[in-house]
Amino acid sequence: MIELTDVSKSYRVRSASVEALRNINLTVNKGEIYGIIGHSGAGKSTLLRCINLLEQPSGGSVKVAGVELTALGSVQLQKERRRIGMIFQHFNLLTSATVRDNIAFPLKLAREPRAKWRKRVDELLKLVGLEQHADKYPSQLSGGQKQRVGIARALANNPDVLLCDEATSALDPQTTNAILSLLLDINDKLGITIVLITHEMNVIRSICDRVAVIDGGQIVEEGQVLDVFLKPQHPVTQDFVDQVSDAVDPRALQQGRNSRLLRVHYVGRLTYEPILFNAMKSSSVQFAILQGTVSRMKHTPYGQIIVELIGENAEIERIIDVLRHEGLNVEDLI
Ligand SMILES: Nc1ncnc2c1ncn2[C@@H]1O[C@H](COP(=O)(O)OP(=O)(O)OP(=O)(O)O)[C@@H](O)[C@H]1O
Ligand SMILES: [Mg+2]
Repeated sequence: MIELTDVSKSYRVRSASVEALRNINLTVNKGEIYGIIGHSGAGKSTLLRCINLLEQPSGGSVKVAGVELTALGSVQLQKERRRIGMIFQHFNLLTSATVRDNIAFPLKLAREPRAKWRKRVDELLKLVGLEQHADKYPSQLSGGQKQRVGIARALANNPDVLLCDEATSALDPQTTNAILSLLLDINDKLGITIVLITHEMNVIRSICDRVAVIDGGQIVEEGQVLDVFLKPQHPVTQDFVDQVSDAVDPRALQQGRNSRLLRVHYVGRLTYEPILFNAMKSSSVQFAILQGTVSRMKHTPYGQIIVELIGENAEIERIIDVLRHEGLNVEDLI
């Protein structure tokens, strides 16, 4: 659905040139929720804005739904842009227009007949749960409600792609979760391809299928969210994964000297099976669970425990083999 080939972008600041993006190659499949994560200044917004050419790349090509946007003239580009909706961190609503008029704005721009856009606005109000607020002004809404208006407005022209620039960064955690659920719902129901940028791994974990990590204008790691979570390769990725794991260093929790400390991950169906219990019950090895969490990556349950095994080394090795054989991911922490 989206194909970026060797995209680069440099900004001229006085006499110097700032390289914001370097040789970005990226493919987003139709119907996917694709996350781009990076620290401040990494180039996230620049990258996102290169997808709809709000920012003109200095080099490379951008293709969306089979059309090479970088080869189009301005009239055609404007037409193609209607297939790409966008939402923003600070909502960018028209403050002197009602919710209804904000949502209708792109439809009026596209010169839709009045009866048609009124009907479409009603559908959109329902989709984002704002039927009761249609005649209010943005200043009368909460942050979460404002973002719902932003989402409805972005979807007005039935786009194929929705770009989200830090769409939840100005919201509290509860409202963030509600907006993320709405995006997931829209992706499920309408099949819209979503690209979102964020500096929060929690956002990636909750709704994305794949993720790219960007640092210094380059993609340093890319893959399925689950793989990147379980086996981060790049130090920047590791930082982001640490954001959502327990802050306590498990080594500080270790009790015995002759023990092994393991991190065990399990994904999907395995989350609910008593594999650890079964492996241990006929063994002389004792164990203590020092930390444990069960959560969800998009629709997939996954769990992680830090466990201390105490006993004969050979027997501990045997237990580790059994766990691995059952499909658990076992990592030695010492
Ligand atoms: N219009 C501009 N003119 C000059 N330099 C710019 C411009 N926009 C961005 N930059 C520079 O490009 C780099 C990437 O900026 P960008 O806004 O894409 O980062 P970001 O990852 O979105 O950061 P943040 O998380 O703070 O929003 C930065 O070094 C920034 O200073
Ligand atoms: Mg930004």
